[in-house]
Amino acid sequence: MKLRRAKIISTGSYIPEKVVTNADLEKMVETSDEWISTRTGIKKRHIARDDEAASDLAYMASVRALEKGGISPDELDMIIVATITPDMLFPATACILQDRLGARKIPAFDLEAACSGFLYGLSVANQFISTGVYRTILVVAAEALSKIIDWEDRNTCVIFADGAGAAIVKASDDDSGIISCYLGADGSGANLVGVPAGGSRMPASVETVKQRQHYMKMKGNELFKRAIKIMVQAVDRTLKMGNLTYEDLDFFIPHQANIRIIQAVTKRINLPMEKVYINLHECGNMSAASIAVALDQALDEGKINKGDKVLLTSFGGGLTWASIIMEW
Ligand code: COA
Repeated sequence: MKLRRAKIISTGSYIPEKVVTNADLEKMVETSDEWISTRTGIKKRHIARDDEAASDLAYMASVRALEKGGISPDELDMIIVATITPDMLFPATACILQDRLGARKIPAFDLEAACSGFLYGLSVANQFISTGVYRTILVVAAEALSKIIDWEDRNTCVIFADGAGAAIVKASDDDSGIISCYLGADGSGANLVGVPAGGSRMPASVETVKQRQHYMKMKGNELFKRAIKIMVQAVDRTLKMGNLTYEDLDFFIPHQANIRIIQAVTKRINLPMEKVYINLHECGNMSAASIAVALDQALDEGKINKGDKVLLTSFGGGLTWASIIMEW
């Protein structure tokens, strides 16, 4: 069977209106604009309204991607929502989105791979498209992280933010499309970032709420040490799979966790910073949504041209990591 290449034909994104600046955070926890800017690169972030959940963000991003691609919801064959902040434990946010978009009774499911969720989602879509099983797949990454952040914990509240990005994936009729996908995980690092309570291990109780166990806990420094090494390894594996070298790359969209991580990875893979897209100064770390939003913004800004080889690489909770190279 001849495999077809899958390609992203359009993207969309949605960032909530409300902005929280570093100066705002100085009033909430013991921190400073100087600390946040130099340690993370983040200057501000966007936060969802009280009545906005992940599916609302996902819906806005999806509508924009559908419109830009001239695709009607009827044409979709599958919906994948990558999120660690679903509307609720179940049903899946993807099912809520399917109904709201007015799509057919197509498969719809959530995929949880933290910051690597969008790339895991693209990779799943790639499999269904390249084998000819489906023609048109919507991959959305939507995060309302502000809802699981402890706004009294300066380790996390200065970093995370809300947003959603969507991509329509279809079979390619030329050489453009996904060249290689590499996914990985290491559950031995599962304790480094996560929400302890609310699942079957530690069900919700008055005690868990009192102990703030429903909020995200993170060992940032431990993650930092692993992120650079793992992301560089992931890039190398993806290049090798695609028979490519660093010199072949035209544009790099890394996960937006920390400017120091991005700079270190970019240096190790020998790319100039001009080839790297950065939005974390304005958008913070939106977990799965970071790369999805950045891709949409980079395309809107005309930073990616036809024929460019674009590298997307992520690292996050799980631990999970992923890297994709596509020809635009
Ligand atoms: N403001 C001021 N001080 C802060 C702070 C804040 N918001 N957050 C932490 N600090 C303090 C710490 O308490 C610590 O103080 P101490 O030395 O007195 O104990 C000091 O700053 C250094 O903390 P540390 O955690 O070592 O800082 P860091 O340089 O590692 O930066 C992160 C912290 C979170 C920015 C960084 O580790 C990071 O980006 N990690 C990766 C995150 C990531 O990839 N997550 C994956 C899921 S997306």
